[in-house]
Amino acid sequence: MLRSLRLENWKSFGSNHSARGVPGSMLEFSNLTLLVGPNGSGKSNVLDALRFLQGAAFDYPLGDVLRGRWEGQRQVWPGIRGGPFEATRAGGGSFSLRTRWTIANRTLIHKMEVKTEGEVALEREFLHEDSEGDYLFDTHAPSLGAQGGRTEGGGIRLALKGEKGGRSPVQTHSSLRSLLGQVELKARVQERVKTAADLVRLAFREAVFLDIRPQLMRDYRPENGGQLGVSGENISPVLKGLEEDVRAEIIDWLSELCAPDVVGIEFDTTALREVMMMIVEGGGRRVSARSASDGTLRFLGELVALLIAPPGALIVLEEPDVGLHPSRIRLLAELLERVADDHHVQVLATTHSPTLLAHLSKRALGNVIAFGRDEKGATVCQRLKDLPHFATLADSRNVEHLISTGWLERAL
Ligand SMILES: Nc1ncnc2c1ncn2[C@@H]1O[C@H](COP(=O)(O)OP(=O)(O)O)[C@@H](O)[C@H]1O
Ligand SMILES: [Mg+2]
Repeated sequence: MLRSLRLENWKSFGSNHSARGVPGSMLEFSNLTLLVGPNGSGKSNVLDALRFLQGAAFDYPLGDVLRGRWEGQRQVWPGIRGGPFEATRAGGGSFSLRTRWTIANRTLIHKMEVKTEGEVALEREFLHEDSEGDYLFDTHAPSLGAQGGRTEGGGIRLALKGEKGGRSPVQTHSSLRSLLGQVELKARVQERVKTAADLVRLAFREAVFLDIRPQLMRDYRPENGGQLGVSGENISPVLKGLEEDVRAEIIDWLSELCAPDVVGIEFDTTALREVMMMIVEGGGRRVSARSASDGTLRFLGELVALLIAPPGALIVLEEPDVGLHPSRIRLLAELLERVADDHHVQVLATTHSPTLLAHLSKRALGNVIAFGRDEKGATVCQRLKDLPHFATLADSRNVEHLISTGWLERAL
């Protein structure tokens, strides 16, 4: 599980010290974390930061992670909005991102500091276990003294946790890629260094950034599509391949969402083994994916992605409430909480919807993070339960009204 993210000089995030004395902004995540705030307050910049770390975990050169990467004539990685020029907060030459994970009963802290002036390269990277002191690898470990960090010719030197006795082993790798994929298990390096690097790298790689697109869900798609694509494009074959009881649960949710009664889902399969779903309405009318409404398809895509995610998965969604009728948003709130609590899937989502927040349990509402901008234009963010007036909000009979009239921005 991703426990926290600290951003410093990343896009709209500054480097001021917070009340706790840590530089930049600190976000603490729960099973379900919603990011709420006005347009341009920095919510999507947080998701961009996580996508940057995912690209780094794919071992792509950091410049390609920001710019986008092509192999042959195909783009294999889309890059980050704004590319290298707008990755750092205006005026700065580097940014840093620090995450804390709990995976396989270990607490792992990873930090990357990246310069974007000239060639995009690592300034520093470390992986710590449990406490700040116990490093697994660090380009600026105390034992390296002035020898740590970047070397001539694009390398970066790091110390690794060694077997007991003797000096820490030192390695030199490329500063153009993350060290998570470069550290080597040799010359007295403790095995837990490599296993931890692999755990964090895999966790970043497996995070799913859902971007459901109804217009891509309306076609026939080959059977055995495997996993659901991030745009939901193969929803029909994925639904067809589900166990009967999971499909029944999905039909239940859909029938609550839609105005016409939904009683089932059937499939049309062509001679070429391509599949299209048909939503069966009360009275036996069958409506193909082609004619299903945008809102229905969006919800269906999110629903399937969330319900079939394996325990431990991290699913990231942008504005899942878009296209839903206000009277149905409570369903989304219920779905998000249910999946996070019962399926042990970690969900992180941005939203503009006061209605969605109003339908959360008090616990989930407390874990929402509110976003705004300070007088210098930098993003400020705070978890609702840490606000001094959280009780006022949580106990209000009209949470929706308070939020839609700007209560949160004033409270930040
Ligand atoms: N390099 C940068 N330096 C300063 N501000 C930036 C930078 N990149 C983006 N921003 C700010 O971030 C805003 C976009 O934030 P975003 O996270 O997309 O908003 P939202 O909360 O609506 O998702 C931009 O309008 C801009 O003000
Ligand atoms: Mg946004």
